[in-house]
Amino acid sequence: MMNTPLTLETSRLLLRPFEPTDARSVQRILDDPQVSKTLLDTPHPFTLEAAQHWIETARRGGDRGDAFVFALIRKHHPLLIGCIDIEVNGEHRRGDMAYWLGAEHWGQGYTTEAAQRIVRFGFESLGLRRIYAQCVRTNIASARVMEKAGLRYEALLRESALKDGTYVDVAVYGLTRDDYDPASSSP
Ligand SMILES: CC(C)(COP(=O)(O)OP(=O)(O)OC[C@H]1O[C@@H](n2cnc3c(N)ncnc32)[C@H](O)[C@@H]1OP(=O)(O)O)[C@@H](O)C(=O)NCCC(=O)NCCS
Repeated sequence: MMNTPLTLETSRLLLRPFEPTDARSVQRILDDPQVSKTLLDTPHPFTLEAAQHWIETARRGGDRGDAFVFALIRKHHPLLIGCIDIEVNGEHRRGDMAYWLGAEHWGQGYTTEAAQRIVRFGFESLGLRRIYAQCVRTNIASARVMEKAGLRYEALLRESALKDGTYVDVAVYGLTRDDYDPASSSP
């Protein structure tokens, strides 16, 4: 159980836990088909009730200490622009990273900046051995985020997920503590 809310910082972003009052922002971002079309497990349309439930689940994970789910807050003209999270398997000391960003903020390096910070957090603060992430094979932007955060392509899981009625291939990227280079993860 964490006593104080955990926040992280990068040059342009504040990473803080979600609050119930973020529901409207979460709903607005995840209800956009551009955003949800490459996300697994995000229904469309995405209702306000779904956003409220999603935030409750995120906060419970934080309380248990096995999922760190951060709202990405742009510092300049403060605004909630997205999410990044790392789910921790304590027994195996590995973390599963995932993220999404409001479409109007894409292509400005925000997710790369956040992912590099999460990689550093995972290895240096959580003591993980391995950090990995997965994306639908055709999600080039997400693959680039993983690579720029230091993760390497490991495998293609063929027809691993059902998305909108179609089985899609899922790519796995990973990084071990031994291969982690702190110099490349300090935005
Ligand atoms: C994936 C996502 C989070 C990337 O966020 P972002 O902040 O735009 O990413 P960055 O600006 O850090 O860009 C990372 C790289 O992706 C590239 N990129 C960004 N958008 C792209 C697009 N639509 N097509 C191809 N490449 C793209 C950038 O050019 C950059 O690569 P480069 O440095 O080689 O030029 C965002 O596109 C998103 O939220 N998508 C929908 C949800 C999703 O798919 N989440 C990931 C699930 S695994």
